[in-house]
Amino acid sequence: MIDFNRIGRDRLPALLRAMPKAELHIHIEGSLEPELIFKLAERNGVKLSYPSVEALRAAYAFTDLQSFLDIYYAGASVLLKEEDFFDMAWAYFERAAADNVVHAELFFDPQTHTERGVPIGTVIRGLHHACQRAHAELGISASLILCFLRHLSEDAAFAVLEEALPYRAHVIGVGLDSSERGHPPEKFARVFARCRELGLHIVAHAGEEGPPAYIYSALDVLKVERIDHGVRCVDDPALVKRLAAERMPLTVCPLSNVKLCVFKTLAEHNLPQLLQAGLAATINSDDPAYFGGYLNENFVQTFAALPQLGAREAYQLARNSFEASFVAPAVKVAWVAGLDDVFTAAAA
Ligand code: ADE
Ligand code: ZN
Repeated sequence: MIDFNRIGRDRLPALLRAMPKAELHIHIEGSLEPELIFKLAERNGVKLSYPSVEALRAAYAFTDLQSFLDIYYAGASVLLKEEDFFDMAWAYFERAAADNVVHAELFFDPQTHTERGVPIGTVIRGLHHACQRAHAELGISASLILCFLRHLSEDAAFAVLEEALPYRAHVIGVGLDSSERGHPPEKFARVFARCRELGLHIVAHAGEEGPPAYIYSALDVLKVERIDHGVRCVDDPALVKRLAAERMPLTVCPLSNVKLCVFKTLAEHNLPQLLQAGLAATINSDDPAYFGGYLNENFVQTFAALPQLGAREAYQLARNSFEASFVAPAVKVAWVAGLDDVFTAAAA
């Protein structure tokens, strides 16, 4: 038994940084730092509408999800070649290794690229190569989750799924992202049914800005294995009870939620309430290049802002990240044992 009471708040930041963890909600296009955007724009001869890195970064003042997505899709326009996708993902993995991330499941948005004429094979090969190298050189296990853009049609989702099939072995699951309001999960009922037949893991963004009804349809229509965000579940106590009873993971992204005005401040974030209700919440970075921090920044800033969160919650969040991951049970057991060792030593 780990005696969490022996670990004081002053030791939390170092422990949060040092503990092994998994990242389950990172849009790899959202890890594209302004410096890399400019480098790739130059390399590929793409014209940007901002004169400098500083001017681009200054535009990162978002009022809601859509105001962010407009800039995020513009940033992704510099990605054209396989090596561009590799360079982007490799830069993320180097930062993830520094944050003691031992496992990452990367979202990618193929339609953002195929709509610009970039073949899906270019996207997947570049990302897959980075995943392989992350494993070989950084000891990070990594996999890819293909996301459908929900502001586009279900037919468009079917088309990109078809294009991805030759690369089925490189993709572990599918997700649903982009503009949430007005695009409920049930709009994609048929394509997700097909993905389930293909044996893909299923996740979806729901309850970031959208209502609890979207979380219900992600569960009941898409049959998700995790909810991405899900923080608005607290508007419906019966839903909270169900999510807790089913141990349905919620991949929560605190810095993202503040940048996109889902919560005014980190101090007002409902993560303590979610954990208190027995939900299997995890902490994630979402789009770290745009939201002011990678995974450890999310942990450290969130714990600093919320006095209800202590060593017990740090352990629980890291443990949830392993248990909610799409890896074999024996691998999860080994990761949790490593986590136990870190906390046992800290409490000694
Ligand atoms: N795509 C990238 N980041 C996203 C987010 N936070 N919500 C929905 N779609 C996204
Ligand atoms: Zn997201």
